[in-house]
Amino acid sequence: MGKNKIEGALPRHIGLIMDGNGRWAKKRLLPRSAGHAHGMDRMEGLLECAFDMGVSYVTVYALSTENLNRPQAELDGLYDLIRKHFIRAMCKICQKGVRLRVIGDVSLLPDDVQKILRAAEEETKGYEGKGLNVALCYGARAEIVRAANIAVENGEKLTEESLSSALYTGDVPDPDLIIRTGGEMRLSNFLLYQAAYAELYFSEKMFPDFSDADLKAAVAEFAGRTRRFGKTDEQCKEDNVQE
Ligand code: IPE
Ligand code: IPE
Ligand code: MG
Repeated sequence: MGKNKIEGALPRHIGLIMDGNGRWAKKRLLPRSAGHAHGMDRMEGLLECAFDMGVSYVTVYALSTENLNRPQAELDGLYDLIRKHFIRAMCKICQKGVRLRVIGDVSLLPDDVQKILRAAEEETKGYEGKGLNVALCYGARAEIVRAANIAVENGEKLTEESLSSALYTGDVPDPDLIIRTGGEMRLSNFLLYQAAYAELYFSEKMFPDFSDADLKAAVAEFAGRTRRFGKTDEQCKEDNVQE
């Protein structure tokens, strides 16, 4: 922990919508793939920073179901990045005792990429208490439908508990804070069920420009917000005294 520790309420789980790689590259007259490469480097740095701050879980949105409609050349470039850099980036993070999980329909990825990801998951499956979820070929609506089918197939009545435990993130607390870079103010099919009470934070910065200091600023703003979960201010104050 040490130097990165921030005082005040820390989000236990951060969701990160890494948007703006393409525009970052375009502004510099670079190919979109260069934006994705810089984005991958920044992701590595931010993950290190988040876990050093004491955050327990991070879910990064790397590729949506809808992104699969992008030009094949762009997708191939992204798969190459996973092949060439992902493992190195993940090793560094996982040395901190972080369990890696890929969430989404991984079967839509090329076979060799699936193998790389599965191997990385296997390597870290013994770790508990800290987790990194990488959302790839992920869409929240598909996740919810999948979870509903799992719960029904298990003969369970559909309840909030049975549904939420059948989500990819079933054993992970809901995200407290969701950060989106790139200036858009939408969730784009990210963690729709789990985000029910997440604090949302939007940054104008394109993802490759989103610094560790920007992450700390988002966390500091989170610490200053009042989360009421439907209660009144007075009730919340009382709850705080009782804790
Ligand atoms: C986010 O950046 C990364 C992925 C969706 C893979 P974009 O590629 O969406 O970048 P912009 O939004 O076009 O700038
Ligand atoms: C959301 O970004 C998905 C990821 C960051 C992986 P998009 O760029 O795909 O979102 P839209 O299309 O602007 O909503
Ligand atoms: Mg985008």
